[in-house]
Amino acid sequence: MPHNRSKEELEHFIRKLEQQALETAEEREPIYIKAGLKDASLILDVGCGNGAVTRDICNHTAGHVIAIDDSEEMVEIAGKMLVGVRNVTLCMGDAHSLPFRDNTFDIAICNLLLMWVREPQTVVNEMARVVKHGGKVVASLEPDFGGKIHWPPYEGVDEIFAGRAIKNRGGDPYIGRKLRMLFVRAGLKTEVGIGNMRIWSCQEDLQSYLKARDFYWNALRREGLSTEEIKKWEEHYIKSIEEGIEFNFFPQFYAIGVKE
Ligand SMILES: C[S@@+](CC[C@H](N)C(=O)[O-])C[C@H]1O[C@@H](n2cnc3c(N)ncnc32)[C@H](O)[C@@H]1O
Repeated sequence: MPHNRSKEELEHFIRKLEQQALETAEEREPIYIKAGLKDASLILDVGCGNGAVTRDICNHTAGHVIAIDDSEEMVEIAGKMLVGVRNVTLCMGDAHSLPFRDNTFDIAICNLLLMWVREPQTVVNEMARVVKHGGKVVASLEPDFGGKIHWPPYEGVDEIFAGRAIKNRGGDPYIGRKLRMLFVRAGLKTEVGIGNMRIWSCQEDLQSYLKARDFYWNALRREGLSTEEIKKWEEHYIKSIEEGIEFNFFPQFYAIGVKE
């Protein structure tokens, strides 16, 4: 599916995915261990994006990984990211109608996919259909912006980063709290948990912000803020970091479901 992004937007998106993959590596690792990725023979990575998370999955298993995305552009970019990775095959396809037979995979996994799909229940049902009995469906990290806590407050911006920007772009900012429902309704024996247990320091928050600064500015511009307004907000944000009082918590949840 084409995602109608400009070249610049695509570059920002790719950089943001790379950054997120790095920042969440430590949080995804215990989920991979819990799900038994190491000993799985055939794994499906649904909505693989630029392939940065797929590369981690490949590194955590001796098995073979099939990575699928519905965007031709992303599959192409992932192809470059995964050059030299021997245990992966890339393909294009829609998660709502996975082009695989029933009971094929040991694990079907996705990361930051369910918040963006048209019908998350259909996608989880599809993932459950293609895993073997005894196999697992895994959503490694899905956020819930309703649980985001940021201090000190800044009216006119906080609500944008607490879900409005995602909603206006067609995503579901509250997908995290729905994981249990989606997995249980797909007939899976389900365990849910929180992926990020650590509150970042002010310096870590600042570094992350500076790396993705253009992404944040674009999001605020899309929401109608002027350059002056964004500058004022940024000044307030940086000042709270310099003072060492800034606090940011953004919950990301996981689900592991066993197909009985
Ligand atoms: C936010 S990105 C996450 C990519 C990657 N999993 C990661 O964590 O870095 C979501 C990806 O899902 C893909 N996607 C969205 N809807 C899809 C669908 N219906 N079927 C397959 N892929 C889809 C998008 O093209 C995009 O590459």
